[in-house]
Amino acid sequence: VAAAMAAERVLAMATCTAPVNIAVIKYWGKRDTDLILPINSSLSVTLHQDQLKTTTTAAASRDFTEDRLWLNGKEADVGHPRVQACLREVRRLARKRRGGNEDAAALSLSYKIHIASENNFPTAAGLASSAAGYACLVSALARLYGVEEELSEVARRGSGSACRSMFGGFVQWQRGERPDGTDSVALQVAPETHWPELRVLVLVVSGEKKPVGSTTGMQTSVETSPLLKHRAEVVVPERLAQMMRHIRERDFEGFGQLAMRDSNQFHATCLDTFPPIFYLTDLSRHIIALAHRYNAHHGLTKVAYTFDAGPNAVIFTLADTVAEFVEVVRRSFPPATNGDQFVRGLPVGSAVLSQELVAAVVTEPVPGAVQYILHTKPGPGPQLVDDPSQHLLGADGLP
Ligand code: DP6
Repeated sequence: VAAAMAAERVLAMATCTAPVNIAVIKYWGKRDTDLILPINSSLSVTLHQDQLKTTTTAAASRDFTEDRLWLNGKEADVGHPRVQACLREVRRLARKRRGGNEDAAALSLSYKIHIASENNFPTAAGLASSAAGYACLVSALARLYGVEEELSEVARRGSGSACRSMFGGFVQWQRGERPDGTDSVALQVAPETHWPELRVLVLVVSGEKKPVGSTTGMQTSVETSPLLKHRAEVVVPERLAQMMRHIRERDFEGFGQLAMRDSNQFHATCLDTFPPIFYLTDLSRHIIALAHRYNAHHGLTKVAYTFDAGPNAVIFTLADTVAEFVEVVRRSFPPATNGDQFVRGLPVGSAVLSQELVAAVVTEPVPGAVQYILHTKPGPGPQLVDDPSQHLLGADGLP
């Protein structure tokens, strides 16, 4: 026991996992680029970590000689200002909590730290990983230092959208009013169990990296787009209230319509940016048209698309529509080689499409354009990993 206690003081370690989130009312534009304060509130759905998650281990030891960071097994720059901001803020909360009295049993805040972070999905697939990454970093650091305060404000300093990954289910990031950002926090609107039929299909498309990063892109938009200003001041406040109602009532028609409109308006503000930014591609437009033909054929909103600052499409739908729509996607974008791995994640049943449906919806197939479909659903917020064999750092503090 004495040896174990001594060892504990030499090396302390904590591992957490955190989810990806997809906004249905988009965040685009900051009023403060240092504190990452947005020009409008936003609302997202947290995705299930069985399909998409980041795992992060944070360790501190008096034996470490420098701070170090590994991302997906490769050493990365721990001096990155956003990583440093998160670290500084968690330590500040820890110091405040201890109230100045240096408890001998508490982990020293002056020890150097090692951090290792990994995604359970290919980073190359271009799936939003910074939100899960920073939410996970902050969760693991907080656990390491014994901080239990509200942490979305800290995660926000890593990446705006990361504050929404600090909760499961349906999450609002309220814009806030204060210049210091203390009221620019995330709040859970409804837990992941609220809408059990809701499903998410991520259409991972082949090829290209995004042309302009969101941080740079949104700054140019703030400086040049009058549409973005109108959106932030007039459109989003109305839409946010509507979206909360659709979620509360589990109204897929309303939810889906508004999610599509908001994605489209975000991309319209990108076109209104000068010089313009293009995130939607020919393939995105194909998927948009396909969704509208599919909904028109059924005479109601059965699927809703949304696109962020990259080419992948995220489709919201209900469980009873998944098999049919997946078959429609398979017929519209016939898989090139990996036919057996085309559908991943939650199981998808088989569906036989009627001739009318195929004729009305599957118009011009584009072979190979969609690499695979990931089937997932809303899920919980960050989790603590108890099992020590799951740590990403060994007893020597190295990956
Ligand atoms: C289009 O959160 O990645 O995905 O705060 O600069 O790190 P920074 O930007 P980031 O922007 C996300 C933009 C978006 C919309 C959204 O997630 O709300």
